[in-house]
Amino acid sequence: MNPENKRESIEVLYDEPLPSTRTGALYNAFSYPTKISAEAIALFIATHTQPGDTVLDTFGGSGTTGLAAKLCDIPTKNMIKLAFDRNITPKWGPRKAIIYELSVLGALVSKVMCTPPNPAQFEAAATDLISRFNEKYSWLWEAIDPQGISGELRHTVWSEILVCPSCGFETTFWDAALTREPLKLGKHLICRECGSTSKIDDCERATEKYYDRHLKKYITKRKRKIVRVYGCTNSKNWQRDPLKSDYKLLEKIKREKLPDTAPIEELVWGDLYRSGYHKGITHLHHFYTDRNFLVMCALWDELNNSPKAMIPSLKMLILSYNSSHSTLMTRVVIKKNQEELVLTGAQSGVLYVSGLPVEKNISKGLARKIKSLKNAFACVYESKSNVVVINKSSEKLKEKTGSVDYVFTDPPFGDYIPYAEINQINELWLGKKTNRTNEIIMSATQNKGVDQYESMMSTVFGEMARVLKKDGVATVVFHSASSSVWKALSNSYLSNGFSVQATSVLDKVQSSFKQTVSNVSVKGDPLILLTKSKSMVEVSSEKWDIEKIIHTMVKQAKKSEIEAEMTPERIYSRFISFCLTKGIEIKIDARNFYQYLESADVSK
Ligand SMILES: C[S@@+](CC[C@H](N)C(=O)[O-])C[C@H]1O[C@@H](n2cnc3c(N)ncnc32)[C@H](O)[C@@H]1O
Ligand SMILES: [Zn+2]
Repeated sequence: MNPENKRESIEVLYDEPLPSTRTGALYNAFSYPTKISAEAIALFIATHTQPGDTVLDTFGGSGTTGLAAKLCDIPTKNMIKLAFDRNITPKWGPRKAIIYELSVLGALVSKVMCTPPNPAQFEAAATDLISRFNEKYSWLWEAIDPQGISGELRHTVWSEILVCPSCGFETTFWDAALTREPLKLGKHLICRECGSTSKIDDCERATEKYYDRHLKKYITKRKRKIVRVYGCTNSKNWQRDPLKSDYKLLEKIKREKLPDTAPIEELVWGDLYRSGYHKGITHLHHFYTDRNFLVMCALWDELNNSPKAMIPSLKMLILSYNSSHSTLMTRVVIKKNQEELVLTGAQSGVLYVSGLPVEKNISKGLARKIKSLKNAFACVYESKSNVVVINKSSEKLKEKTGSVDYVFTDPPFGDYIPYAEINQINELWLGKKTNRTNEIIMSATQNKGVDQYESMMSTVFGEMARVLKKDGVATVVFHSASSSVWKALSNSYLSNGFSVQATSVLDKVQSSFKQTVSNVSVKGDPLILLTKSKSMVEVSSEKWDIEKIIHTMVKQAKKSEIEAEMTPERIYSRFISFCLTKGIEIKIDARNFYQYLESADVSK
């Protein structure tokens, strides 16, 4: 492509926000916080590079940039249509990708996804694993139905116990709060013993001292009780209150010997620890019911009898279900106009244990997940792109100076997600934890403030600048509601000779939980194109009037008549992009920005 056409194509690419959808086999294969769509990244790679070129991601996460490199060789209909509609002219064909990721979990997922097993062989090995497990352990899920006929548990709901502030009487949260017709969770406890009414939020949660047979000592933890049992007999679903036989089974499970390989491992708590709330949760097994910890241990042990080549992908299968569905972080929620409680996975980005945790039937869940992983592997199995995954910190890259054509990366956003702390729920099964010393993050418990964050990011940008070819560019996805984090980011690339050539927004079509609930979120992540050669955008020395810029941004948003452009979050992203392009220091946090937008003047 001649340089003029290439430049034009790149301008078009950054002109309008590209959609990053949260659907499809590749996206759903493994839930990793802040993941982006491989199809969107592939358009960037195929526009910025030629077939055969080398692409680097210094913060690989679950390997999406690697998958995108794979897709460049076998573009989906969606990608081809998007490129056509947007007038972008990508060059499809195989690429080489190098993925650095510090996290042990992220690196495993990246490796499996980017060098997938034969999909049919994977399916056979996974099906075989589950049936070997079921042969030995199906008794864990036995339950009689309301007619007294033997059936299988689908899941059970547990509840925390509330303590009446007036008399100390204990009631399950389930009994106190749940009412039917319509189904809702009330906010008050009316004590059966003394008749007093108290706010549930003000009630203490009951704790109990019990003998932890794995730790061989007494510990105190929050009390939880099984409150509802859901099962299936001859393909017919049923539900009922717990029976004596359920308690008897739970007692039997408590005495069952665990395989010798069981990981009785201590958790390393960090910023996500809440005292009281996480009381007694000191080890991995405290995140599980006795039944589901046994299931996980037995499945993990059974892996040793699977074909060796399939073990990494089978581990990924079990872990893809584990942190979202196998622990006490799995929950029920109430949805509008639904008569029944809705089962849902763990909240992403936190280690929250619900007041009504759910104990799912793991082997049933895994059996359902096999197909979706097989489909994900099939999406990229035929690609000729070559992806190498390196489980190391990107503060020091092995690559030669001037050997990389393009970087696409999505760095950790300040204090947004403590990856190593969250990922340990899966990594303790893998037997290897992320080395937090090298984790680039702002974290009070790790003693890393914004200066440390900036200095570590700077080291990575320095390495990026070194390995990139002279005319190589880097696309960086970034998101923060804090001006100091933006400043740290811009200092780290500016101090390494990068300048901003263009900016855009990655339109995350359906926000992740954290982005929706946080009222200081930035909808759609800004995208920054960095160049080592002098930027084509003039950085002016003119003194900018911030208020004027905000007014201009609002005017532009209104003029666009696009709803997403008119949201405060998008206007903040546009404001950030403008400032980064012009080299203006970002001095305003999202929260203050939104307050300013609300002031009468701006809306005029
Ligand atoms: C925003 S996430 C990347 C998510 C990725 N785009 C995806 O789609 O899955 C940032 C990643 O940087 C990783 N990370 C943090 N410090 C690192 C370091 N020093 N070297 C390499 N990776 C690091 C974190 O473990 C995390 O997975
Ligand atoms: Zn009472």
